Amino acid sequence: MKIKKVAIIGAGLMGHGIAQVAAQVAGYEVHLKDIKQEFLDKGMGRIKWSLGKLVEKEKLTQDDVDAVLRKIHPTLDMKTAVGEADIVIEAAPEKLQLKQTLFEAFDEFAPDHAILASNTSSISINTIAEATKQPDKVVGMHFFNPPQIMRLVEIIRGEKTSDETVAAVVEVSQKMGKETVLCKKDVPGFIVNRVLIPALLDAIRLVQDDVASLEDIDKAIQLGLNWPMGPIRLLDYVGLDTTLSITEVFQKGLDEHRYETPALLEKMVKEGKLGRKTKQGFYDW
Ligand code: CAA
Ligand code: NAD
Repeated sequence: MKIKKVAIIGAGLMGHGIAQVAAQVAGYEVHLKDIKQEFLDKGMGRIKWSLGKLVEKEKLTQDDVDAVLRKIHPTLDMKTAVGEADIVIEAAPEKLQLKQTLFEAFDEFAPDHAILASNTSSISINTIAEATKQPDKVVGMHFFNPPQIMRLVEIIRGEKTSDETVAAVVEVSQKMGKETVLCKKDVPGFIVNRVLIPALLDAIRLVQDDVASLEDIDKAIQLGLNWPMGPIRLLDYVGLDTTLSITEVFQKGLDEHRYETPALLEKMVKEGKLGRKTKQGFYDW
């Protein structure tokens, strides 16, 4: 199947970047959907900022930017977003019920041939697929933050995902300039987050127990393990609300004490300190 039209659901941290890469690198026509005009405007603003960086670096010309922007169509309407899509990539918040409701809508409004992919960080692809009549078309397509820069897409096969769906998502990812890995089993956190999240939760416990300052924890891991940014800064970057949702999936799906939510993480999310997105997390942004 030749993929030409892509729908991205959610114009937040991940959705705006995925939409940009789909239009800029793969040359797809992109419909970008969110629930409020202000969220679409914010997402388009971020895309313009990112494209501006690429112009500054002489990787794109202003004509290229205009062509990319012409390919991205922001919309609030589900039918307009997915009605002609060959692939839908869902990047809405990490909540199972919300994702199931969205996948039900994709089932109703997207063409029968469309691939229905989720950018979920941790939620079971099988459970998301249960909301549709075509579980063979449902697949995990996990990008990394920021999608414009990070080179990996982790592809997650659900029990009923067909070989054709996996092959198509590999092809789309490659067209977007990404490397892929296949997670053969639908386990909480898949490959990358299964390894990353326990480390991030331990970093929060170091803060909670006042073992070292934020800056020293970040410096220790950045210089000691050569991470591009320390774990506390990375938590702010990913979003504390998303991290909390992931730990909830881990607690239910993996019976291990180490996945218990640190009290400090719960407290900060309750206080609306979600990280970079609210300008306040562990650091002031
Ligand atoms: N668009 C275009 N360019 C961008 C950009 C964007 N969205 N974001 C950053 N850049 C550019 C910057 O302009 C900068 O360019 P120059 O070097 O030419 O100035 C370059 O990228 C580096 O950015 P910064 O100088 O701002 O900062 P940095 O050197 O720390 O790099 C980073 C930023 C690429 C994000 C780097 O810190 C990094 O790789 N951090 C780790 C990211 C990571 O681990 N992501 C995975 C998170 S986990 C996840 O995503 C899964 C999940 O489910 C939660
Ligand atoms: P975010 O909160 O920045 O963005 C989510 C966007 O979805 C918001 O703009 C919100 O308004 C919109 N939205 C909410 N309900 C919607 C609906 N019904 N229809 C359409 N849009 C809706 O979150 P994010 O960080 O972009 O995360 C999105 C998904 O990507 C989550 O599943 C998350 O786990 C996953 N993910 C996040 C990261 C990360 O580093 N933040 C990395 C990889 C994957």
